[in-house]
Amino acid sequence: MTARSVEAEVLRAAELLAGARHALALAGAGLSRESGIPTFRGEGGLWTRFGEPPMNQYERFSADPRGWWLQRLQERARPSEFTEAISAARPNPGHLALAALEQLGVLKHIITQNVDNLHQQAGSVAVTEIHGNRTLLRCIGCGRREPARELTEEEVPPLCAVCGDIVKSDTVMFGEPIPVQALRTCEQQAQWCDVMIVVGTSGTVYPAAGYPLQVLRAGGALIEVNVEETPFTPYAAAVLHGPSGELLPKVVERVRAALA
Ligand code: APR
Repeated sequence: MTARSVEAEVLRAAELLAGARHALALAGAGLSRESGIPTFRGEGGLWTRFGEPPMNQYERFSADPRGWWLQRLQERARPSEFTEAISAARPNPGHLALAALEQLGVLKHIITQNVDNLHQQAGSVAVTEIHGNRTLLRCIGCGRREPARELTEEEVPPLCAVCGDIVKSDTVMFGEPIPVQALRTCEQQAQWCDVMIVVGTSGTVYPAAGYPLQVLRAGGALIEVNVEETPFTPYAAAVLHGPSGELLPKVVERVRAALA
């Protein structure tokens, strides 16, 4: 993509956002790539390199919650590449750009697939974490969430202070139902949405990957920001091909000018 065409796509994206009634962002692991967190798929992705994890994580947790917690306590001593990267990560200009669009009143909500808490650290407020947040714990009974804390072997599995059921990490496991409230908010936001920024996602995991299709079916417009093509690329009204940390700040600049 030539510099001129990137500029044209950035302008197109800014026009769509400045004129949007209810703009959303759907964020994926690529948005946090420039914060040092590896993606899952695509070039250099964790699963591209090491293969996919078991798809029955939740079934295994439910069968032996204490065993699952004990394994986590042991892993604390030998954190994985992903855990080390996500613990050290800070928001990058892409996160800050989305927060700026919210402050401008342009971006109404972020649906994020990321569990890294970087949107909140960047200042975004209207965020739904469809796959949870790694800094929180969640009760599998009543859904109550609380900040993650150091636990000893005697304390696991932790029990909910309200309903007494078992508490797990808020991060949604493979095979685990997405918490109902998060799902309802995402569906409602997608129904209202007329312009959606789809940033840093391969568009392979549902229900998240279904929201851009829902916006298209309702006659809305997609703005894609990605370093590679995805299933959404052919349908996007603007395709910003490159790192989101570089391109999103350019979009914010043009939106500010359009609103001035
Ligand atoms: N800027 C923009 N996009 C990027 C960048 C970057 N700097 N670097 C990589 N990408 C893109 C890749 O091209 C790819 O399309 O980010 C996307 C990352 O795709 P995935 O690794 O599949 O991440 P994601 O789409 O968020 O995965 C969805 O799958 O395993 C589950 O729970 C996990 O939330 C995750 C979900």
